[in-house]
Amino acid sequence: MNKRSVSAALLLLFLAFHISLFSAPARQISIGTGNTELVLLAGKDGRLYQLHYGAASPAGKPRQSASRDDEAYPQYGNGFLHEPALRVTHADGNTSTDLRYVSHTAADDPARAGVTHTRIELADPAYPGFRVALNYRAYAAENIIEQWAEITNNEPGAITLSRYASAALVAKSTAYHLTQIHGAYMREASLAEERLAPGIKILDTKLGVRAHQFRAPNFILSLDGPAREETGRVIGGALAWSGNFQFAFEIDNANRLRALCGINPFASEYILAPGDTFATPALLHTFSTEGRGGMSRNFHRWARAHGIRDGAKPRPVLLNNWEATHCDFDENKLISLFEGAREVGADLFLLDDGWFGNKYPRDNDRAGLGDWEVCRKKLPNGLTHLADAAIARGVAFGIWLEPEMVNPASELFEKHPDWVITQPKRELTYGRNQLILDLTRPEVRAFERSIIDNTLAPNPGITYVKWDCNRYVTQPGSSHLPAGRQSHLLIDYQHHLYDLMRHMAEKYPGVMAMLCSGGSGRVDYGAMRHFHSFWPSDNTDPHQRVFIQWGFSQFFPSNTLSAHVTNMGKKPLKFAIDVALSGAFGIDRDISRWTPAERAQVAAASKLYREHIRPITADGDLYRLASPYDQPRAVLEYVSQDRAAALVFIYNLGEVAYPAIKPLGLDPAKTYRVREINLAPGATSRLKPYAADGATLMRDGFAAPLRRSLESAIIEITAE
Ligand code: GLA
Repeated sequence: MNKRSVSAALLLLFLAFHISLFSAPARQISIGTGNTELVLLAGKDGRLYQLHYGAASPAGKPRQSASRDDEAYPQYGNGFLHEPALRVTHADGNTSTDLRYVSHTAADDPARAGVTHTRIELADPAYPGFRVALNYRAYAAENIIEQWAEITNNEPGAITLSRYASAALVAKSTAYHLTQIHGAYMREASLAEERLAPGIKILDTKLGVRAHQFRAPNFILSLDGPAREETGRVIGGALAWSGNFQFAFEIDNANRLRALCGINPFASEYILAPGDTFATPALLHTFSTEGRGGMSRNFHRWARAHGIRDGAKPRPVLLNNWEATHCDFDENKLISLFEGAREVGADLFLLDDGWFGNKYPRDNDRAGLGDWEVCRKKLPNGLTHLADAAIARGVAFGIWLEPEMVNPASELFEKHPDWVITQPKRELTYGRNQLILDLTRPEVRAFERSIIDNTLAPNPGITYVKWDCNRYVTQPGSSHLPAGRQSHLLIDYQHHLYDLMRHMAEKYPGVMAMLCSGGSGRVDYGAMRHFHSFWPSDNTDPHQRVFIQWGFSQFFPSNTLSAHVTNMGKKPLKFAIDVALSGAFGIDRDISRWTPAERAQVAAASKLYREHIRPITADGDLYRLASPYDQPRAVLEYVSQDRAAALVFIYNLGEVAYPAIKPLGLDPAKTYRVREINLAPGATSRLKPYAADGATLMRDGFAAPLRRSLESAIIEITAE
């Protein structure tokens, strides 16, 4: 074909495409879970609109059109008036995009019952090479929708993505209350709620790595006044992304709210070469008519079934040595710590930071990161010997890694000063005396992979890894990426990081893993799919932990929330134990510093955890019965899926007279026995064991058997 006939053929194709779009009938696309429905409309004009998100709607006469303000994934530059989901500069410089429906498919997941993937193809008639596929994976049993976009460039040249949200959910109400989860080191996961006003409210982070230290990528949007625990409509969202995120909540002139959720568009222009596809991270969202409680239960069930590693596998009781020793130990000291591990009921000894580095020994946080050879001075017989010594004493063995980082005082940095993320012409800035390795560099990727392989492959006795990450990006530059691609750094970093995490999970499926980031500076469902649990905070003072664990329980199930008994804050041991027992229980203390009676108390708690508590909390439905934000106490209840057993955790944080505790979620017709468990040695409960049917128990409740501040109780409710 000559040039003229090629352009004639292209024009015909373009017109045919255009005509087929505009003559298409309107069609509704329903994305449903057990109790919820997201209804979209491909209008007569071909644009995609959101008609409804909420409780499953009765089938009605399909609507034919909607307002432009209801667009499901609005694009910038051709008539849309508000904050768009997508902004693209096309190969020819045109900054407008106008997507129209092309087709859609819905397919059940062959491997997972109750999981349906709907994929909607959109294209811009003026740019036939540009495509967007909106993906919705609906989880029927858990009422979760996982939503992401795939953007494909088949234009003749590169295009630039300036805004590329994962989702742009529309909500309609008269008033919106937004809860965010914010915090800082040692004060993680605080809840803050506000009423939204017209305009845009942004929640975001720009920290790049350890990106969630000040703000978690989760939100709770209440449509019925301030969010309540068990009533009212809320939408919960969690972005599966460990890097910079942005949630932009815009209330428009018609009081409609759109939640734009995705990678933070700030400093994130992404250039897509011809033939490339960019997939956004997924937003997981749920709609609940049972307030925050219903939202949390949906997320917890989804996480256990689909979102985390081995959701049903019991988490071992850990004995960690960080608070006990910091980096100050040697082989004999560690072996002396193992000695008592079984005595207190630990399953696994987790060796924390400080085991590596020779020229620059890791004696504190100023040196050694990057030099992952075992420190010969501290551990002359190596890791295999150490793991064997733990195993010989009846406990498995795990280890701490921070593969992404380097101290300037290290052999690695001496050899490869150009491997770190920094900006040219600037003095290096440090966080915890360390720098971040640039994962966009292939040599760095190979190096970080070798840290995992060199630690785990020759040491099959290592069956647990704590993966840490202790600083933010403050100078976001790569000496590997070309000048025009610097804005790719923090996005590509995350993708390479996930490859590394996936490598560890897939190559070492028997090695369990805890996600850590100076506490929880990086906790999200993008990373958690490769981990079993996470470290919520270096703050293990149980009083503070009540709040921190409360905050994380909004989105994460109990078996992911590592909770260790320590001496921090010098609170009563019973209180510290009871707070840790509601999470993934562990210990971090040189146990020889406890009296024999205290050790016996911890041992009894470990046994109770293994036999009575973990089976219910790890798989149970959570009801938060009393919030420490409303009164100086917290009450949590876990109910087993068959409603045959429940546990109520009560933490007094002040001396106030409280109303009766009324459990929820029980079977009204079943008769239950109620008794206090985990009593302090020699103590008798103020709650006399009794029996009642579920209906009575839920109506009348029972008085907490506590009087003073920092007293706690665990009440077991079992069907007869
Ligand atoms: C971070 C973690 C701690 C511990 C130290 C080790 O602070 O949150 O739990 O592992 O690093 O340096």
